[in-house]
Amino acid sequence: MVQLRLPKNSRIGKGKTWPTPVSAAPLKEFRIYRWSPDDTQNPRIDTYFVDTSDCAPMVLDALILIKSKIDPTLTFRRSCREGICGSCAMNIDGTNTLACTKAIADVEGAVNIYPLPHMPVVKDLVPDLSTFYAQHASVKPWLQTVTPAPEKEWRQSPGDRAKLDGLYECILCACCSTSCPSYWWNGDRYLGPAVLLQAFRWLSDSRDEAKGERLDNVEDPFRLYRCHTIMNCAKACPKGLNPAKAIAEIKEMLIERQL
Ligand code: SF4
Ligand code: SF4
Ligand code: FES
Repeated sequence: MVQLRLPKNSRIGKGKTWPTPVSAAPLKEFRIYRWSPDDTQNPRIDTYFVDTSDCAPMVLDALILIKSKIDPTLTFRRSCREGICGSCAMNIDGTNTLACTKAIADVEGAVNIYPLPHMPVVKDLVPDLSTFYAQHASVKPWLQTVTPAPEKEWRQSPGDRAKLDGLYECILCACCSTSCPSYWWNGDRYLGPAVLLQAFRWLSDSRDEAKGERLDNVEDPFRLYRCHTIMNCAKACPKGLNPAKAIAEIKEMLIERQL
């Protein structure tokens, strides 16, 4: 029988348990993935204990507390701390989500935190999203027109504007794409749910005049048709969006233009 073993340098090594703070309040355990390109060590899971009475309620607050009071080497991204920038996306308690909108109290027992899955890691909880951003750029996520620009703004009826609801709210956090099995296996060629939702956002814009080119760009067995409607993406989206539905609508547009 064939035995499959992970390469030695991908196995999780022994982590460190950091000193427990002295506190009368309940302590919450955080088990956090650590890896640095600056040494030759394997990844490891470090354990931290946080005094929850000393900490605001979200997982991001605990990470900031750990970094400022316990371990300044812990590395993660964050900016807005209110679910707008998408930079604090990570895997918490087995689910891709935003650390700034995930309440510590919603996790029973220890809080396990990993970087977004199936992406190269830059350091600790920071994934390398270069391919993801290049794929986003490839769908030309801006208004394309051929008619001369109006004196003021491009106008849109309230009804046409409403067609962008459920699409424009995407913050490009990548929680959906990194929860999609098709994207795990073919992330270099399949555009993934986040980018396809963006493609559909521009296909749905009544002011845009590049619909044909946009459809040509996604009509490909890998770029679009690797979606097998597994629906992990819709489950993972912290903004409540449905990329699988957007992908189905692109497929429908492609069928319609053949009729
Ligand atoms: S529905 Fe499509 S995009 Fe969403 S998780 Fe499944 S395969 Fe991926
Ligand atoms: S669709 Fe949702 S999960 Fe995907 S990138 Fe946009 S906001 Fe994030
Ligand atoms: S810090 Fe901006 S979404 Fe979490």
